[in-house]
Amino acid sequence: MHRDIAEVLFSAEAINTRVQALGRQISNDLAGREAVVVALLKGSVLFFSDLIRSIDAPVKVDFAWASSYGHSTSSSGQIHLKVFPEEDLKGRTVVVVDDILDTGRTLDTVVRRLKEEHGAGEVRTCVLLDKMARRVVPIRADYSGFPVDDVFVVGYGLDFADRYRNLPYIGVLKPECQRP
Ligand code: IMP
Ligand code: MG
Repeated sequence: MHRDIAEVLFSAEAINTRVQALGRQISNDLAGREAVVVALLKGSVLFFSDLIRSIDAPVKVDFAWASSYGHSTSSSGQIHLKVFPEEDLKGRTVVVVDDILDTGRTLDTVVRRLKEEHGAGEVRTCVLLDKMARRVVPIRADYSGFPVDDVFVVGYGLDFADRYRNLPYIGVLKPECQRP
C-alpha cells in the first residue's frame, strides 16, 4: 500500500465487481438504445474506461472538463467548464460519468448545461462514489457505485493536487498529506 494512504476502502477487486454490475444496470436501462457516455475529466477516466467496457449496448464516448477544486480538499463553490463534448447531443440520451458526487455542484452544473446549451434529451448520471453527507445541491445519481463517509479519498482516478490517480484501489489520504 502507498505510504500516504491511511486505509484502503475499496480494493481493485471490489471496484471491478461493482463496475461490472453498474454496466449491466445501464445496459438493461438503455435496452439497445445508443447513448453518448460523457466522462468528466480528469477524475472519472479510470472508472469510465472500465465502465464502458462493461456496457453491452451501442455507445459513443465523449469528454467534458469541469473543475472546482484547484489544489485543496474543500470545494470553492465555483464550477469552471473548460472542455465541452464535441458530439452533437441534440435529443440524444446522455450518461454523464463522474468519480464522486460530493456537494453536487459539478454534476448539477454539467447536467443543466448539457440540456440547456447542447440540447441533450435524457441525461442520466453515473458516479462511482457518493458522499451524501456533503450534498449542498439536491441531486441524486441515477447510478451509484458505493456510498462513502465524509473522508477525503484518492486512487482509481481520484486525486489530491493531481496525485494518486494511478492507484488501483481507493483509499483514505492521510491528513498530513492533505497539504498543497
Ligand atoms: P462536487 O461538485 O462538490 O460534487 O465535487 C465533485 C468533484 O470534487 C469530484 O469530481 C472530485 O473531483 C472532487 N472530490 C470531491 N470529494 C473528493 C474526494 O474525497 N477525493 C478526491 N476528489 C474529490
Ligand atoms: Mg478532482
